[in-house]
Amino acid sequence: MADLGFTPGDRIVITGAASGIGRCAAVRAAELGLAVEAWDLNLEGAESVAAEINDAGGRALARGVDVGDYPAIEQAMQAAHAEGRVRYLVNNAGPPSYLDMSFDEGVRLVLGSVRTATDAWLAGEPGASSEPGAVGAAMCATASVAGTMVGTGSNWYSAAKAGITGYVRHLAAYRTAEARYNAVAPGMVGTPRLAGFTASDLGQDILDRIPLGRVAEPDEIAWAVLFSLSPLASYLNGQVLVVDGGWSITQ
Ligand SMILES: NC(=O)c1ccc[n+]([C@@H]2O[C@H](COP(=O)([O-])OP(=O)(O)OC[C@H]3O[C@@H](n4cnc5c(N)ncnc54)[C@H](O)[C@@H]3O)[C@@H](O)[C@H]2O)c1
Repeated sequence: MADLGFTPGDRIVITGAASGIGRCAAVRAAELGLAVEAWDLNLEGAESVAAEINDAGGRALARGVDVGDYPAIEQAMQAAHAEGRVRYLVNNAGPPSYLDMSFDEGVRLVLGSVRTATDAWLAGEPGASSEPGAVGAAMCATASVAGTMVGTGSNWYSAAKAGITGYVRHLAAYRTAEARYNAVAPGMVGTPRLAGFTASDLGQDILDRIPLGRVAEPDEIAWAVLFSLSPLASYLNGQVLVVDGGWSITQ
């Protein structure tokens, strides 16, 4: 197993941890020695990933949290900090772009939730460090190439994902006394929400333009997220890591 320099037992909250990228991030974080809080709308799914981690000798607990419910986020974060300082936050939960939502509703859910969770997390004083290679508080948000390069059909999805990158830059410029902040922008990732899409004409057309010729494994995104949080990335702040197999450079 890789050693990214995390301190064993440090605590991490991962939203949307029941499936896909969030689930992989939870499992890998636990393998790296972190104590995981797996948050998801789908409590049963979060409990299943927490059980998988605990059965493998790691440490995890599950919470049913809908990130569209701001008071629920604040309450859950207070409870999480009460169990011990939460050093890391992964703002990953979000609805698929094909959901039918109004612009305001979508931006509130995708972007407003990131702001609410981050504010609640920072209120617990996660413990920053600006020293080279030091363990220090860090947040990573899952953005998307839909917010950096590709125009998608859903107006709220592209706008909110782009908003996440702007919000991360704001935090990185003005709130570094409290933590480091980065985003990861995946291209196409083989998670349940993409099921069937790659077989469609549009999916095939996109695949043809990805130099690596395939979609990402969710683990390949999770590792980028965990690297950005780790002491190995102690000078990485305010960046958007595009992890898309080179799709963006072919546009
Ligand atoms: N799959 C891709 O191709 C892709 C590409 C770019 C960005 N992303 C982003 O990656 C993140 C994770 O997506 P994924 O592909 O792993 O999806 P996924 O559907 O496999 O998992 C998403 C998880 O988030 C949870 N979730 C959804 N809405 C929630 C809410 N309101 N509150 C709490 N939990 C909620 C779901 O229950 C699910 O467990 C999302 O933010 C998505 O926009 C995915």
